[in-house]
Amino acid sequence: MTENSNLAIIILAAGKGSRMKSGLPKVMHKIAGRPMLGWLIETCESLNPTKFIVVTAPGMDEVVDAVSPHLVVFQKEQNGTGDAVKPALEHLKDFKGRVLILMGDEPFVNLTVIQDMIKYDGIAAMAVTLDDPAGLGRLMLDGDGYLKSIIEEKDCTAEQLKIKQGNAANYCIPADKLSNWVEQITNDNAQNEYYLTDLPQIAAKDGIKTKVFNVDIEGSWGINNREQLAAHEKLAQQKLRQKAMQQGVTMMDPESVTLSWDTEFGQDIIIEPNVYLGPWTSIEDNVVIHAFSYIEGAIIEEGAEIGPYARIRPKSVIGQGASVGNFIEVNRSHLKAGAKAKHVSYLGDATIGEKTNIGAGTIIANYDGFFKHETHIGKNVFVGSNSTIISPVDIDDGAIIAAGSNINKNITENAMAIGRSKQENHPGWATQYRNIKSEQKKREED
Ligand code: UD1
Ligand code: MG
Repeated sequence: MTENSNLAIIILAAGKGSRMKSGLPKVMHKIAGRPMLGWLIETCESLNPTKFIVVTAPGMDEVVDAVSPHLVVFQKEQNGTGDAVKPALEHLKDFKGRVLILMGDEPFVNLTVIQDMIKYDGIAAMAVTLDDPAGLGRLMLDGDGYLKSIIEEKDCTAEQLKIKQGNAANYCIPADKLSNWVEQITNDNAQNEYYLTDLPQIAAKDGIKTKVFNVDIEGSWGINNREQLAAHEKLAQQKLRQKAMQQGVTMMDPESVTLSWDTEFGQDIIIEPNVYLGPWTSIEDNVVIHAFSYIEGAIIEEGAEIGPYARIRPKSVIGQGASVGNFIEVNRSHLKAGAKAKHVSYLGDATIGEKTNIGAGTIIANYDGFFKHETHIGKNVFVGSNSTIISPVDIDDGAIIAAGSNINKNITENAMAIGRSKQENHPGWATQYRNIKSEQKKREED
């Protein structure tokens, strides 16, 4: 896709986000496993701007990392949205096109409306009409429907608060005028902040009118607090589930399934209720995920069966037709095609070969308190129930491990390992034991 030489984008993301009550910069709070800023950056990248600048604050290193490789500039003190654009302007000195200014706390901005705003010649401002526009600046229109001014909620009169059309705070502005207008913004208002919302009024003095571009509710309410974050999460989940179902995923109770922004699905997948799929997860064709399973950072290959109550942790692969049953935790491990672990196990830092069977209660002890170690189990191996495999160990193809074994030595191909203490049977000892104990109890009761 060719670069749009007429377009520059500035995202404002330096705000403290104090209403979030958080140590994390607001724009780094996640929606469907991805920082809200990431959603917005993806939309911006699809517009291919010739300049792309994100404004953040010193010390917000997480934001700098998330923005890479795009340009980051710093607003030293958070004196308002009008002040925040200033550090970006010095990078736009020779730029003659249109500058799209977006709020970093509005991740689901409406791309179609943005595209219309970019095509418009004058100033374009995005607006949204809500039953309750609480928190939004209110729009004052002139007789021709152009935007005269935006009044921030805290500066509104009781009458102005009744206006339902709110400022969605995304603007497209001709570059040649922007610096001059921004310099004219003052902090003479209820919050003593420099409001970017003063621009329409300032531009009007130069005879430039601001056109309003309305969006529907979905893409246009920002995130200032945790409730709004949760509302965005809900919206994202609805869309992700809808897309998954359209692609051939059956969800028995869609509302109870949580997906991530990058979850990949094949076809004919069945997902039972209460399943969580975290980031970096790929689910291939014909997989069944039973209820209450938690999967993140894993590849579940064709025809595999997961759960109920399975936990698959990052860097794991569950191979074709493999089966991971209830109360199994798989961590950084690869179960190859047809391998089975059906009941109550921990499998960490291991490879488990084709058609190998892991018995109930098997624990791979991969951590010695200081280092993690690997275990490699070949194909067609049978691990008897309640075995502890103390890593590092290599268990070759076809080996059998007797139930209840502690294994800390390598096992060669087709060998049988029995790593448990020998059982002794003593006829009559149970009766003697009962007699001794019941006499002792009787003496103590007397
Ligand atoms: C802003 C608008 C309001 C609009 C609302 C829509 C202003 C003055 N108000 O209010 O009219 O209805 O968005 O969501 O613009 N930021 C900085 N530096 C700062 C302050 C903010 O970079 O000094 C960034 C924030 O990180 C955020 C964005 O600007 O991404 C908006 O700031 P926020 O404080 O959320 O403004 P709102 O109160 O939501
Ligand atoms: Mg906001």
